[in-house]
Amino acid sequence: MKVRLEGGREGDRTAITLGRRAFLQLSGLAAGAALAAPAILKSTTIANAADRTPITFASAKFFGNRTVAEMVDVFNQSQSRILVKYDELPPPSASTEVHQGLVQRLAKKDGAPDVFTQDVVWIAEFAGAGWALPLDQYVSAEEAAAYFPGVLAACKWNGKLSALPWYVDSGMLYYRKDLLEAAGAAVPQTWDDLVKTATEIQKAGKAKIGFSWQGKQAEVLICDLVEFVTSHGGSILAANGKTVEIAEPNAVAAVQFMYDTIAKYRISPTDVRSWDEEPSRAPFTAGDAVFLRNWSYVYPIAQDPKASSVDGKVGVAPLPHFAGGKSAACLGGYQYGVNATTRHREAAIEFLKWLSSPATQLLFATELGLAPSRPAVFDSPELGKAQPFMQTLKPVFVGATPRPVTPKYSQVSLALQSAVSRAITNGDVEAELKRAKANLERIVGK
Ligand code: GLC
Repeated sequence: MKVRLEGGREGDRTAITLGRRAFLQLSGLAAGAALAAPAILKSTTIANAADRTPITFASAKFFGNRTVAEMVDVFNQSQSRILVKYDELPPPSASTEVHQGLVQRLAKKDGAPDVFTQDVVWIAEFAGAGWALPLDQYVSAEEAAAYFPGVLAACKWNGKLSALPWYVDSGMLYYRKDLLEAAGAAVPQTWDDLVKTATEIQKAGKAKIGFSWQGKQAEVLICDLVEFVTSHGGSILAANGKTVEIAEPNAVAAVQFMYDTIAKYRISPTDVRSWDEEPSRAPFTAGDAVFLRNWSYVYPIAQDPKASSVDGKVGVAPLPHFAGGKSAACLGGYQYGVNATTRHREAAIEFLKWLSSPATQLLFATELGLAPSRPAVFDSPELGKAQPFMQTLKPVFVGATPRPVTPKYSQVSLALQSAVSRAITNGDVEAELKRAKANLERIVGK
C-alpha cells in the first residue's frame, strides 16, 4: 500500500511503518485497553455513531508512518460519546494556504471547526480576532506546568491561554558523517566552518551541493531568516513587537551571508531560491549534499533505507552561528485551538485534552516524527528508542527562537518573504531590508 509523506513523497507503507504491533501497543497507551485493535488499521466504522456528539477537527496535513486521520480514528474508536469528523487542510509547508483555510472557516463564526490546529505564529492573530476560545478555565495550573514553559508561553495572548501545546519543531543542521570524517572535518560550529568544509568536500568532487536550505518565498524563508539573523545577534522585531530591527547591521550581514552561500561561496545552488522543505531535503537524502538545514521530520526519512541513500550516514546538530554569536533554531510547531463559537464546548475540550495528552503526544512523536511539548514525554524511554535524535537535541527544541509575536504576523511575514526573496536574488541586501523595515513599521503601527 502506498502512502504519501510530507511534501508529496510516495513511500511504501509496509516498509516505513513502525510495525503493527508497536503501533497497537502505543495506541493502547493512547486510547486505553478497550481499543479494538484491528479496527484502527482496517475499518473506521464507529459503533452508535448517531448517538454521539459530532465535532469537526481541522488540521494541516501531517504524514509519517501514520496520518492525522488515523489518529482521529484512534480517538473515535476509544470512546462512545463523541464523533470527530476530520477536515484536512494542506501540509504546513503550504503555510499561506493553511492560514487562508483556517481564516475562511473561523471568520464565519458558525462553530466549525470545533477544534483546529494552528501554526505557533497565528495564535496571537486568532486570539486577537476573538476566534479562539480562551482555555484558562479548562486547564489547571498543574496541567499547564506539564508543558515546556516556552511552548506554553507561545500559546498565550494578552495573558490568556489561547491554545494548548501540540508539538515543538525547530530548525537543525543535518550533515553527512561519512563525508566529514573522510575530510577530517569536525561538525561546523560557525557559518565560516560550514563554508570551509562544504567547499572542500565539493572541490574534492564528493558532493554536488555543499549546503541545502530553503530560500523559497514562503513561510519557511522567515524561519531560515530568524536562524541566520539571531545567530548574528540580530532580530526582526524587538521584544516590544514594534521596533523593527531587520535593517540593523547584524541582520543585514546575516542576509548578506544567505545571498553569499549562493552567489559568492557557491555552496548552495541557485535553486535554493525556489526550494521549501521537501525540494531542499530531496538532494540530501539522495546523497548529493553535505549539509542541510531542515526540521525534525527529515530524520526518520533520512534513516529509512527505502527513502534515503544515506541511511546510517546522517548526523544532526545545532545550526552554526556567526563568530561571536550563538546557535539559533527557529521555533516551529503547531498547537491546538478551540473555536470560540463551538456549539459543543464540552466535547471539543475533551477531544482537545486527548490530543494534547501524554500518550497521544507519544504516538504523534513515534508515528509522525513530531516532537512532544511535554518534558515527561520528551524524556521517556519510548521516545528515546523510537526517535533518539530528539532527546540528543533537546536543548535545540527547548531553546528555539520564536518568530515575531504579533496579531499582524501574517502581514509581517508576507512583507518580509518578498523583501528577503528579492535580497537573496539581486544581492541588494541593505536597500531591500531598509524598504522592508519601512513596510514592517507601517504594519505593526510604530
Ligand atoms: C514547519 C514549522 C512551522 C513553520 C513551517 C514553515 O512546519 O513547524 O512552524 O511555519 O514549517 O514551512
